[in-house]
Amino acid sequence: MAGSGPVPSTPLLDAYAGVRPATQPVWFMRQAGRSLPEYRASRAGTAMLDACLTPDLAAEITLQPVRRHGVDAAIFFSDIVVPLRLAGVDVEIVPGRGPVFARPVRDAADLADLVAHELTDDALAPIEAAVAATVAQLGDVPLIGFAGAPFTLASYVVEGGPSKDQLRARTMLHADPDAWRALTGYLARISGAFLAAQVRGGARAVQLFDSWAGSLPEADYRAAVLPASSAVLAAVQGVPKVHFGVGTALLLPAMRDAGADVVGVDHRLPLDEASALLGGGVPVQGNIDPALLAAPWPVLRAHLEAVVDAGRAAPAHVLNLGHGVPPETDPGVLTRIVEWAHDLP
Ligand code: CP3
Repeated sequence: MAGSGPVPSTPLLDAYAGVRPATQPVWFMRQAGRSLPEYRASRAGTAMLDACLTPDLAAEITLQPVRRHGVDAAIFFSDIVVPLRLAGVDVEIVPGRGPVFARPVRDAADLADLVAHELTDDALAPIEAAVAATVAQLGDVPLIGFAGAPFTLASYVVEGGPSKDQLRARTMLHADPDAWRALTGYLARISGAFLAAQVRGGARAVQLFDSWAGSLPEADYRAAVLPASSAVLAAVQGVPKVHFGVGTALLLPAMRDAGADVVGVDHRLPLDEASALLGGGVPVQGNIDPALLAAPWPVLRAHLEAVVDAGRAAPAHVLNLGHGVPPETDPGVLTRIVEWAHDLP
């Protein structure tokens, strides 16, 4: 990693660099969100994407889970569709549903209209400001920046909203390869710019979310998705890069090859098997089953022990969920997991 200057090491950054730290680092995907009463209070009356674009509010929400749980990282409060909104695309996040686009990309005219929305560094100013305000209050706790990978973003843009199996996006990938390249190339540029703004603001690691890449065969992933994801990861230098998706057991080596230093694994694949698939030399992140958060503590604790044991097969392991915190999660359970992880011998 091309770290410039004396950056203090932390358990999270050591693990991301492949060095096993003395204490087990832990954070949770979607740790800033509806499971926290302070989040619900801060968000009351403000639409999701408006909250993301209000720097003081985004900073406050980012800090909430760090204060409450003592996690080893903050993840910037934002969303994968924020760079599209900043480019002027008409997108909303509908509560309980997800991102919804006013003009789904269904034909050449829709595509031409979308890619005409350029994203300038000026438009990204509120993001850089929110990250800088957050970092100023975080002390030594590192902030993770993130972006959506082109395939996952494309699956929303082409469908117009959430879909079960990304059918339209996968059709387009084969039926109109030129349009697909233009679309994913555009999404790679805006996600890359979003990531770069966060690193300029002081993010000390980044995570690329390709949540729905697991619906792709490896050959399609390598041929038609990996190049655009690589371009996003190449937009930032000098920070460790995590690459995560759901149901991606068959894609893990390809996701590493896209330019990741660390691979995030969902709850379906034990971490020792994930590590073996990755050749044994790649730090891993994951993979508590979110369903177990609602189980009695002894049941959850046995699961945590299994996850941490399996994680010992990798050079280093950052404990996390296999996907995001479910909104109905008791936040006390998350605090208890952090305490348990930090008390491990
Ligand atoms: O992890 C964090 O705490 C950081 C913030 C974060 C959010 N979205 C905030 C958010 C991150 C990293 C994301 C990424 C994201 N957004 C992904 C990839 C990760 C994943 O979960 O697979 C995806 C697919 C999206 C798109 C999206 N945004 C969905 C599907 C939803 C849920 C809609 C719902 O209401 O169930 C959102 C909204 C969203 N993004 C919320 C949060 C906290 C909930 C907004 C609310 O409070 O109503």
